[in-house]
Amino acid sequence: MTFDLDHHGDAEVGAGLIDLAVNVRHQAMPGWLAQPIAASLDRLSAYPENSAATAAVAARHHREPGEVLLTAGAAQAFVLLAQALRGARRPVVVHPQFTEPEAALINAGHRVERVLLRAEDGFRLDPGLVPADADLVFVGNPTNPTSVLHPAADVAKLARPGRVLVVDEAFADTTWRPGVAGEPESLAGRRDLPGLVVLRSLTKTWGLAGLRIGYLLAPADLVPRFAAVQPLWAVSTPALAAAIACASPVAVAAERRIAAEMAAERDHLVERLRHVPSVTIAGEPASAFVTIQLPEADVVRRELRERGYAVRRGDTFPGLGPQWLRIAVRDTATTDGFVHTLTAVLEERS
Ligand SMILES: Cc1ncc(COP(=O)(O)O)c(C=O)c1O
Repeated sequence: MTFDLDHHGDAEVGAGLIDLAVNVRHQAMPGWLAQPIAASLDRLSAYPENSAATAAVAARHHREPGEVLLTAGAAQAFVLLAQALRGARRPVVVHPQFTEPEAALINAGHRVERVLLRAEDGFRLDPGLVPADADLVFVGNPTNPTSVLHPAADVAKLARPGRVLVVDEAFADTTWRPGVAGEPESLAGRRDLPGLVVLRSLTKTWGLAGLRIGYLLAPADLVPRFAAVQPLWAVSTPALAAAIACASPVAVAAERRIAAEMAAERDHLVERLRHVPSVTIAGEPASAFVTIQLPEADVVRRELRERGYAVRRGDTFPGLGPQWLRIAVRDTATTDGFVHTLTAVLEERS
């Protein structure tokens, strides 16, 4: 079976449709973020200078600046890793997950092996499934598209000398657990795990998909290898301004509040979906989206489009297939409207 690894949710969104396909938050930018981005426009005649942003991101994760590489979105990091680590002998991608890591590896000439997590296991990571001699491993946490958050201890078990372990934490800022102050299960601050590379994105929670800003956190001896294959001045001055703003304590506190609100909205979506006959929810959702399994999902998806809703198809994800759809968590009124429409579509088909 072949999968269209280059398909992404943005291709599903069309004029007039309610967007439940792209997992970027749709809210006005707070002043502490909008102002520095706007002010940076006065400095566009100069080439970008990234040391202040690198230091800010390092401080936010209690790391050294030499352990940070700012990137044009997390997506650029996949390409840098795939190019810089061309010598890897056995690259493994744990699926289902975002398809760009595999696409970037293939484009760089790697032969990629897939490890498939199973619906019956709630798409939970079993570290034992990854071959012991895999020297480059990609795993998402929380995982897009399943929304499953693996225990940090299980992900950490994958780290070992002689291996680069890439943990895509693009959605870590959307996770939340009562009584936990920070991001549950994030490895971003861990400096003790050999070969650990953590990828982060600032485009989701902060609605900056068009600005392109993210970063990787890695041991200081690895960072120069990734920097060496990065185009010069890859991160623009406005994107650097955003990185500084989003690393501030104000931003981190706001992120936690947003994640807590989203947890309530996600619970609402899950609860509503549980009452829709023939719908099964993947795993235990913990991020900005919920993935469901239902008969004839692709027909249902097209019918939902006719009625104004864009949802993400599941058939382009290895480990899922045409019977799956991914739905973004939105405010409860949008969710109610969507679930009402989904129920009507399914009733008409039964
Ligand atoms: C899991 C995951 N990782 C990384 C990315 C890339 O994000 P960015 O916008 O920072 O390039 C995405 C974007 O959809 C994603 O879903």
